Amino acid sequence: MSRPAHHHFEELPSTNDKALALAREGAVTGTLVTAERQTAGRGRQGRVWTTPSGSLAMSFVHRPSRALEEVASLTPCVAVGIARALASLGVAPRIKWPNDLLLGKQKVAGILCELHDVTGPAPIVIVGIGLNVDVDAFPDELREIATSLVQHGAAADLARVTEAVSREVRRMLVLHDRGGEVPTEYSDLLVGVGEPITISTGARPSSGDPGDGITGILLGVRHDNGALRIQTPEGERELTSGELLLTGYPAAGQVNGTENMTT
Ligand code: BTN
Repeated sequence: MSRPAHHHFEELPSTNDKALALAREGAVTGTLVTAERQTAGRGRQGRVWTTPSGSLAMSFVHRPSRALEEVASLTPCVAVGIARALASLGVAPRIKWPNDLLLGKQKVAGILCELHDVTGPAPIVIVGIGLNVDVDAFPDELREIATSLVQHGAAADLARVTEAVSREVRRMLVLHDRGGEVPTEYSDLLVGVGEPITISTGARPSSGDPGDGITGILLGVRHDNGALRIQTPEGERELTSGELLLTGYPAAGQVNGTENMTT
């Protein structure tokens, strides 16, 4: 099978939007859109995602053939793909549930998967990844919570990083579509296992205020569906969305916003 196309742009509002437009014109699974700058990049839970110079904005088209309720486990699979790619570039990332890639306690990459056209015959998932590669100075509001590959001494060539990430993520899209589970590496890389945590399900995660938080001990994830397992005083619970608040780790990134969005 031929390699899916890669479309590169100097500037886009959002690579996720461009990838969706291409998908609706027929782009195949694995088609990649990258941009050097985004003017309206978005993150999970309504956050603005900034793309500082030296950062990678990339979005993949995915046409799921699995049942849509099984698509939730795609995001942790992609997180493992990114972790493998980063390891090949010389760093040792960890994962903060559900889909933040950390170096040390700071965020180096985030994932935003958006599901479209669910009522039609050909649903589309756009897998968006923001990755800080060759960023040596962040704006004030990100300095505490964000980091980059270059700050950890890794290969910081954007083309090389794009190649490594796209290879591993495309592999994950195929693995997931064939019915694969979340690789066990996800659990090995997960931060906070055995520790007390809060999952914020409310609207104020970025302030550190747990809102309607669920508190317990982090047990791990289910590999069949990516759900987080927590031991609470009322028994074990499983969560498929929320924001993990863990002492000593940033609550959110990469800049707070106010728009509402379904992730
Ligand atoms: C998060 O951690 O909140 C997810 C961030 C995802 C950002 C990427 S950058 C490329 C793609 N285009 C967007 O507008 N968002 C995603």
